[in-house]
Amino acid sequence: MNLYQNITGDDVEADRMHWDSLFNQAGYVYGRAPAAFLKEHIALLPVGKALDIAMGEGRNGVFLAKKGFQVTGVDYSEIALTKARRLAHENRVTLRTVNADLTEYTIKPEAYDVIVDIDFVLRSLIPEIKKGLKHGGMVVFESQTEDQLANTGGNVIRKDWLLKKGELRELFKDWDILVYREVNDGKDARASIIARKP
Ligand SMILES: C[S@@+](CC[C@H](N)C(=O)[O-])C[C@H]1O[C@@H](n2cnc3c(N)ncnc32)[C@H](O)[C@@H]1O
Repeated sequence: MNLYQNITGDDVEADRMHWDSLFNQAGYVYGRAPAAFLKEHIALLPVGKALDIAMGEGRNGVFLAKKGFQVTGVDYSEIALTKARRLAHENRVTLRTVNADLTEYTIKPEAYDVIVDIDFVLRSLIPEIKKGLKHGGMVVFESQTEDQLANTGGNVIRKDWLLKKGELRELFKDWDILVYREVNDGKDARASIIARKP
């Protein structure tokens, strides 16, 4: 079954309901463990205030909180946010959760040491991410690339939710890029970056 079969990107409220129904199950759809890229590079990140964009069920936010970050997570699925708080409680950490539609969200300027965006491409947020980091702060961004079209025979939610080859590096080219990679194992094609705001 395609996890995302009802999500179209054309109707925010309808999509929000589909995300809620996807998350409305006892198990964690994306698991409880953080994204491998975040875990692998955690030592590079300056500990402080972190913003987890499209936090989902909290796997990345909880990991950051356990590493000593003060984490705020934004998502528009209240069911996901409730599960994220539960995961935090189970791990004896806390998260600040914000229920908001990211298509209309403004990030507080120069407020964060780290901003994480995993598997959520909304290009209008890039300038907000850039503004929202403190100088010396770091963005951790990872999502699928257009190579995913070949992996799935073209079966993706929306082509414009896939990153173009080199796009992520180009978006942060004026920053200090600590890590950049594009990987395709034939099932999952993704680009990942860690960049520091000058
Ligand atoms: C693919 S999941 C990724 C979740 C999380 N980043 C992770 O790595 O586990 C995408 C998330 O984006 C959220 N989302 C999608 N569109 C959104 C919007 N316009 N505003 C806020 N959250 C949104 C969904 O509710 C979902 O939790």
